[in-house]
Amino acid sequence: MSVNPDSSHRTPAWRDLPAAQQPDYPDTDALRAVVADLESYPPLVFAGECDQLRARLGAVARGEAFLLQGGDCAEAFDQVGADQIRAKLKTLLQMSAVLQYAAAVPVVKVGRIAGQYSKPRSKPTETRDGVTLPSYRGDSVNGAEFTEEARVPDPERLRRMYHASASTLNLVRGFTTGGYADLRQVHAWNQDFVRNSAAGRRYEALAREIDNALNFMRACGADPAEFHSVEFYSSHEALLLDYEGALTRTDSRTGQLYDVSGHMVWIGERTRQLDGAHVAFAAGIRNPIGVKLGPTTSPEEALALIDRLDPEREPGRLTFITRMGADKIRDRLPTLVEKVTASGAQVAWVCDPMHGNTFEAASGHKTRRFDDVLDEVKGFFEVHKGLGTHPGGIHVELTGDDVTECVGGGDEIFVDDLHQRYETACDPRLNRSQSLDLAFLVAEMYRA
Ligand code: PEP
Ligand code: CO
Repeated sequence: MSVNPDSSHRTPAWRDLPAAQQPDYPDTDALRAVVADLESYPPLVFAGECDQLRARLGAVARGEAFLLQGGDCAEAFDQVGADQIRAKLKTLLQMSAVLQYAAAVPVVKVGRIAGQYSKPRSKPTETRDGVTLPSYRGDSVNGAEFTEEARVPDPERLRRMYHASASTLNLVRGFTTGGYADLRQVHAWNQDFVRNSAAGRRYEALAREIDNALNFMRACGADPAEFHSVEFYSSHEALLLDYEGALTRTDSRTGQLYDVSGHMVWIGERTRQLDGAHVAFAAGIRNPIGVKLGPTTSPEEALALIDRLDPEREPGRLTFITRMGADKIRDRLPTLVEKVTASGAQVAWVCDPMHGNTFEAASGHKTRRFDDVLDEVKGFFEVHKGLGTHPGGIHVELTGDDVTECVGGGDEIFVDDLHQRYETACDPRLNRSQSLDLAFLVAEMYRA
């Protein structure tokens, strides 16, 4: 893989198009200098790995695999410690083991990790006690602190995002290939959850079944390499085009462009305009692409996105991540899936049960109800079952820590508890116990 920036020296088409949600940098010379440096930095991921993930997602699109995509809403520079990264990874691996047993197909594991630092915002400004300042747009842009100084977009933060992503990926690669991700170890953690928590006790039967399956394998003398390490991929929203463009490189094997900032990148609900820069940027790279689809998405828009982003109709190239809300999914999803399927396109359908279910509690905390999250996933499975299409996966905001950001779950968190450990830099995440609870409940949906 070449580490040279786009060597064609043609200005990519997306640079001339309107880009929504970009920071307003006061010092454009400073921005140019940072971008020039980023262009010289080594890739964070390799083109061949992106191709491999595209192939894995192809299996998801064909109904032969399930995608588990999860992590923070927004990563933060002061949260890239080994303990936090390990806890997130552990939670995802535990969820994946349960889902893989229940779905009886490979689970493709993708983190919202090592690059998820940039946030689109519904409002450009935030007002507190009569003071109005620019909104926080993620650690890659400005500071969360509510001061005029912190909220000024600083291009040096792009450099910090690169380095934070690099050290995170380094740790992730170590954990997933160095024995930590051993399936028997992961299963032992799940047994702990089942034995030692109120939420877990309901899943004793399922955990015992998994135990029996593993014991049977052991008795057969089977000890495949797949039990000892896992394939794990990184993903983030490709929001800041200065950064993503600087990390877009030509692959020397194929001459094609890859965004080497992460394996998979997605386009958010607020930046998926058909004539906008984000769609044009994604159309030009070979990474697997996700697009978030909210409740107002028309079938025509979905079909136009397929034409732009997946003109070859290649399974694995395009993942539609629907985020309708529990109250809308059963109404909005069927037509979209029907029309897309009728067009002959084979996209992967994935359910984000988080972003359509956010509300503000009386305390002022942005939160989500565990039951709404679960209900949206249920609706997603029902719709696909009804249409004979494949519910390809789930996309969730979670952390491995015991935070109190979403209400409900087996170890019930109440609205009055939210203040205890509300630590998210942006949207409320499922904590470790709620995440495992969700995985076991989704596993049970396969039995229904
Ligand atoms: C997100 O994934 O954090 C997000 C902002 O999602 P959406 O674009 O679907 O609102
Ligand atoms: Co979010």
